[in-house]
Amino acid sequence: MKLPKHYYSWTTFIGAAIASLSFLMIVFLFLLSLLFSEGENYSGLFTFIILPVIMFIGLIMIPIGIFFKKRKEQRRKVEREFKFPIVDFNDSKQRTMLFFITIGLTIFLVLSALGSYQAFHYTESNEFCGTLCHKVMEPEYVAYMGSAHERVNCVECHVGSGAGWYVRSKLSGLYQVYSVIAKAYPTPIETPIHNLRPAQETCERCHWPEKFYDRKYLTHRHYMADEENTEWDISLLLKTSPQYRALGLQDGIHWHINPNVKIEYKPATFKRDVIAWVKYTNLSSGEETIYRDPEYEIDESVLDTLELRTMDCLDCHNRPSHNYRSPTNFIDEAITAGKISSDLPEIKLTAMGILVNDFPTTDSAFAFIDQEIDDFYLSNYPDVYDTNKVAIDAAKSAMKEGYSKNIFPMMKVKWNEYPNYLGHLENDGCYRCHNDRFQNERATTISRDCNLCHLIKAQGTPENMEYAEGEGSLEFKHPIDIGDEWKETHCAECHSALF
Ligand code: HEC
Ligand code: HEC
Ligand code: HEC
Ligand code: HEC
Ligand code: HEC
Ligand code: HEC
Repeated sequence: MKLPKHYYSWTTFIGAAIASLSFLMIVFLFLLSLLFSEGENYSGLFTFIILPVIMFIGLIMIPIGIFFKKRKEQRRKVEREFKFPIVDFNDSKQRTMLFFITIGLTIFLVLSALGSYQAFHYTESNEFCGTLCHKVMEPEYVAYMGSAHERVNCVECHVGSGAGWYVRSKLSGLYQVYSVIAKAYPTPIETPIHNLRPAQETCERCHWPEKFYDRKYLTHRHYMADEENTEWDISLLLKTSPQYRALGLQDGIHWHINPNVKIEYKPATFKRDVIAWVKYTNLSSGEETIYRDPEYEIDESVLDTLELRTMDCLDCHNRPSHNYRSPTNFIDEAITAGKISSDLPEIKLTAMGILVNDFPTTDSAFAFIDQEIDDFYLSNYPDVYDTNKVAIDAAKSAMKEGYSKNIFPMMKVKWNEYPNYLGHLENDGCYRCHNDRFQNERATTISRDCNLCHLIKAQGTPENMEYAEGEGSLEFKHPIDIGDEWKETHCAECHSALF
């Protein structure tokens, strides 16, 4: 049962060859990947995406070839009426042929279904999201690897479930692939991501408000920029929830996500670091309260044009898995972990002096770290340099480690490009609303009371610690004497410049 001659053309023939070749390669690569499943490689990209696309093009070429061949022949006025091939089931040759064609088609369909399922999984894998566009996604991938969400796949937050979002993310993915190839992507990638899926549909699948967390006791250890790297400890009891679990989300920090609470706001900037207008709706009573900041003057007509955002997890936890920490932060941590010895005089100050600089590449930063640390100890503390070479080398390695995990010059990624709004020390964070300026018509403000969000339980140097008694709280004591300045000035006004 051969097809009529005029069905054959070069296009058809080449298409069929391409399709069958790529089909064979897909099967071959797939078998290979079953044998050697371990290890990071991009074979998945070929097996499940590139080759199937080529195969599809080949398959399309077959009917196209037939079509053009026919048209050409018609133009040559070769009179030939179009007829479908007649299948005669009494002819045993035709029966066998049809049998094989049916089997072949079924196998092909089953395999393509399996293939598209694999392709779906592959495009949802961390390999695909995090490492394929190596340089571009490096900062996000590295920060993610050290985060609490290291075992949560990128797509759990960035896509979520459902076919609609899958298609949407793949469409924007196509544009992203183009911008990587054409090098048209911005550095750093612009945030906040304005079309991120609402947190209710992603975060709350794993962390649901009805079953939430108890209060959290945090201890931070800081080192001052003086000769002894004086240690300063602070312990806080964060009121993430009410004192008693039975009260649900009645008060405390996570009151914001109480299902009866709706807070909307209008950010005045793209980054959402300045807020112009806040509205709180009590969904159980329907009562609405609008807060305005008298110090922030804005025209009503401009206000109407601003984005209206409903507050969710991401307005506080905007860096749940890509938290780029500031040098003061990661150096303190390296000293606490013992990677940098606090016996090295002025190591905190020196490290900060080096890490505040901008470098064109990570390698040049590393070279600068080696050079500067050696120079500093050689010229200021030559005896330390001679006797404590091991500690100096360890400090250099720890600085490089901290740098490479938190600062990415290629993509211009660092702590102040991607501020973490959970807190108020390095940027305004909670103080964007909780600044004692926003007030409603009854003149009550969104409070900046130091005991609203946490109780200070302990503070001071190890030799001279103060402790709060029982359920009480200490008045904050600033580690260096700045008088009452901390009561008036936002911490970030000084601290954002202190790196
Ligand atoms: C726990 C949830 C979560 C996971 C898991 C996660 N992300 Fe994100 N990611 C976020 C959020 C939230 C933002 C938005 C930050 C903002 O808008 O300020 C973000 C932002 C980004 C950005 C924008 C640039 C930036 O640094 O803010 C990129 C790129 C990104 N993620 C890639 C990834 C990749 C790749 C993975 C997997 C290796 C991943 N994400 C895993 C929550 C997540
Ligand atoms: C697939 C499940 C999953 C999703 C989706 C998810 N998380 Fe998590 N999250 C976890 C797990 C697991 C942990 C680690 C265990 C723990 O601390 O409870 C965690 C921890 C956290 C922590 C504590 C971090 C710390 O350092 O202690 C925060 C905050 C958090 N998640 C916020 C978010 C936010 C915001 C989102 C949405 C952007 C989100 N999570 C989405 C599973 C998830
Ligand atoms: C008003 C700001 C705010 C909002 C909104 C918010 N959180 Fe939190 N959340 C906090 C703060 C502050 C902490 C404690 C900080 C810390 O862990 O260092 C916290 C702690 C957590 C923790 C860790 C709890 C623990 O004991 O380890 C998880 C998980 C978490 N939040 C998830 C969420 C999720 C999911 C949402 C959205 C449904 C959400 N949060 C909304 C401010 C907020
Ligand atoms: C978009 C504005 C906004 C931001 C940002 C914001 N809050 Fe609030 N917060 C409010 C409003 C409005 C109230 C209600 C004020 C009132 O009714 O007294 C509130 C109330 C609170 C309360 C008291 C809840 C109660 O009734 O016990 C706590 C605690 C709190 N916020 C913590 C935080 C923390 C911590 C952060 C930062 C991680 C933060 N908030 C960020 C707007 C905001
Ligand atoms: C709206 C809530 C809120 C208010 C008001 C608030 N804080 Fe905080 N504070 C936080 C959160 C959230 C953190 C971050 C906890 C963390 O690191 O996860 C924090 C952290 C701190 C820390 C620890 C900083 C560090 O890195 O060690 C100190 C100290 C502190 N606050 C002092 C104060 C003082 C003093 C005031 C009053 C002027 C105040 N806070 C008002 C929410 C608040
Ligand atoms: C007038 C400027 C100013 C203000 C306002 C201010 N600080 Fe500081 N803070 C400093 C200086 C300067 C240092 C010393 C830096 C050093 O020696 O490392 C410091 C050091 C600290 C340290 C010790 C560790 C470190 O990070 O260097 C903590 C913790 C701290 N401040 C918390 C706060 C908090 C919380 C607030 C807001 C309630 C605040 N500060 C407001 C200027 C300020």
